[in-house]
Amino acid sequence: MPSTVRGLEDVVVGATRLSRVDGEAGRLVIGGFPIEELAPAASYEEVLFLLWHDRLPSRSDLAGLREEMAGLRTLSDGTLAALRAAAGARLDPMDALRIGVSTLPLANPELARVELQREPALANRARALAIVAALPVLVAAYHRLCHGREPIAADSRLGHAASFLWLLGGARAHPARVRALETYLNTAIDHGMNASTFAARVIVSTRSDLVSAVTGAVGALKGPLHGGAPGPALDMVVEVRARSRASGRSLDDVAEEWVRTALRDGGRIMGFGHRVYRVRDPRADVLGEALETLAASVGADGILSDGRTVELATLRVLHEHKPGRRIDTNVEFYTALLLHSLGLPPSLFSPTFAVARAGGWTAHLLEQIEEDRLIRPSVAYRGGADRRFVPLERRSEAGAAA
Ligand code: ACO
Repeated sequence: MPSTVRGLEDVVVGATRLSRVDGEAGRLVIGGFPIEELAPAASYEEVLFLLWHDRLPSRSDLAGLREEMAGLRTLSDGTLAALRAAAGARLDPMDALRIGVSTLPLANPELARVELQREPALANRARALAIVAALPVLVAAYHRLCHGREPIAADSRLGHAASFLWLLGGARAHPARVRALETYLNTAIDHGMNASTFAARVIVSTRSDLVSAVTGAVGALKGPLHGGAPGPALDMVVEVRARSRASGRSLDDVAEEWVRTALRDGGRIMGFGHRVYRVRDPRADVLGEALETLAASVGADGILSDGRTVELATLRVLHEHKPGRRIDTNVEFYTALLLHSLGLPPSLFSPTFAVARAGGWTAHLLEQIEEDRLIRPSVAYRGGADRRFVPLERRSEAGAAA
């Protein structure tokens, strides 16, 4: 049998100019800029422009992009009807988002166009922008419907991050909250050949359309090993905090016990470990700093310091549990603390990740369209051989089982 690589670990499947992940050094570079420099300073639109055009936008570029996006923040009646049906069935917000994305061509059939390799780059970017702009609108509309509230119209004066908070809550958010969300969105916008990006690239490599690719990416992001980790990570901190308060025992003690029990039950600790990073995920520190800045402006409920205590206890136990493995904190742990501090409930954590990653997904899709090479790896066969077909009428139950 030819040699195989489980999970394609360390396999280089292509080249990108979008982001560089150095798992040994714990460095992330987006479009040539270290994440520590870019994420806290730029707007989401600036980073999106950087990914799509390989340069920072001028003032007029940015104004044009913001205006174009503002005009795209509406949902068709068909999409709203689908979201209402999803809310009626109490679907997980990631399922509703997946359904919502796949309905976008109802209003704009152009979004389902295939063979984009034949289209001008400008037209493909316009399609991609319609999807990126729609994602927060879908997430916020579904969130409101699930809580018995009607979706509200976007305010065209607001940027991507501020608009998302407006659409969720129906109020202008404090600038410090907008900045914190913007930093998060930038931190999560792209990250090498992660699972959802790979899924999206595979789909568009068949010359299929952008909506199909992003729908598939949302499905991949839903999984707890990828984008589904921050909800359980927050649950852990909140539960440890509650038990510590109720029992009078130290947070550190309770956290250690919680992690030992979870590992004994065969569980994984969410927010820790990474396929690529062998050291601390650099995005964790960017988000930790964003959280400190946010707390200094609008106050905090102590989640950051409690989270840090829980993090240290977790790392201690994980290192004991897997002595040979370099398992460290990943971005999702601090994502949980930051989004919680922004007032977002855990049900919005993965959808907000999708809102952020949409920029990276579409940038990769535009790259893949230019690459125009079907992604179709091989697989080693390990099934049976030389079997003889027995017609159904002569097949016994035992024979079928064998
Ligand atoms: N908790 C407990 N054990 C862990 C953890 C963890 N968080 N992470 C790794 N391990 C263990 C695995 O169980 C495995 O043990 P085994 O060899 O006995 O089966 C071993 O360490 C494998 O380690 P790696 O090869 O480093 O991890 P892998 O590449 O297989 O998985 C992954 C990476 C999926 C992220 C893993 O660390 C994990 O499940 N973490 C928790 C989920 C999580 O936080 N996901 C978000 C990732 S960041 C993102 O997607 C944006």
